[in-house]
Amino acid sequence: MKIEVVLTEAEIVQELTEAVEARDLPEKFFYWGPLPVRAWLARAADPAFAGLRCAWQQLAAKAAWLLEPFGPPIHAISFGAGDGSTDRLLLDAIRQSGRELKYYPVDASQALLEMACAGAEDLDIETDGIKADISSPMHLVFASDAAESPKLLLMSGNTLGGFDPLDHIKHLAQCLHGDDRLILDAEIYQIDGSVPHPDTLRQFAFAPLAALGVSADDGEVRFEYKRDQSIAGLHVTAAHFRPDRDLRIATPDREVLVQRGEHINLNFSYRFTTEALHTLLVERGGLRILDQIPSPDGRHLLLVCSR
Ligand SMILES: C[S@@+](CC[C@H](N)C(=O)[O-])C[C@H]1O[C@@H](n2cnc3c(N)ncnc32)[C@H](O)[C@@H]1O
Repeated sequence: MKIEVVLTEAEIVQELTEAVEARDLPEKFFYWGPLPVRAWLARAADPAFAGLRCAWQQLAAKAAWLLEPFGPPIHAISFGAGDGSTDRLLLDAIRQSGRELKYYPVDASQALLEMACAGAEDLDIETDGIKADISSPMHLVFASDAAESPKLLLMSGNTLGGFDPLDHIKHLAQCLHGDDRLILDAEIYQIDGSVPHPDTLRQFAFAPLAALGVSADDGEVRFEYKRDQSIAGLHVTAAHFRPDRDLRIATPDREVLVQRGEHINLNFSYRFTTEALHTLLVERGGLRILDQIPSPDGRHLLLVCSR
């Protein structure tokens, strides 16, 4: 297994301590370490996400159309690849079509990245993992330069929704050249405001603090639903934790005292109306939408974009 390390574990540990001190945990910590990884895999396996996988399978059935501009080998770079299981729905179809393929999963989570590499290698797909921070424009460019254009850039599992989508789409668009294709999915806002399986969402949101020894009895995880006014149709769910007692949180570097009643910002997740996604990609990202596939349950939209 080959993994190039741009973001080291020492850097992640230092950032974790700073994040607890700032009472604000960045997205990468919800997938870092055994307990958060388990909570994420449990959430990702939830039947509520079957519709999303169905949309990727429908795209896989159109692989011949998707790959028209590409000569061999096909290079696929996946930002926030996770365990790679969503990507493999498409990659396996490409492999089965007899096209030569090289896969570059990019993630901050060593454990998930290893799963992505191992899963692709099991399918005999040549794989180079990249451990990098996709919230850093420099790391994004570095990872996207792993292969020459034309290439496929993938972003699956509503990964876009874990970042400020306006900033992130601009940085992603800068990685796209000529005949490159960006394939991403996003979660569609539901009129009734519902989110798939709130129970696994709560465990997932609390997992980084649980990994630091905070107990569910030490306070309460709350969710706040807001509109983001920067584009009509942008909605965000933000989780935070409020301790009921003073806590000494033992980060790997040092202990951080968090007092009763303070707020620790946990993760947030954007949901989009279809119109908001179009505005984001076309007007803010300067991209063209070549195809879109709604999931059968209407909870996700998969889009194929070019420059
Ligand atoms: C919502 S999950 C999606 C995973 C996968 N694409 C899927 O469809 O199952 C987001 C992924 O992005 C990764 N991630 C989050 N923040 C990151 C960061 N700043 N840099 C690199 N990877 C990050 C997480 O480790 C996780 O694997």
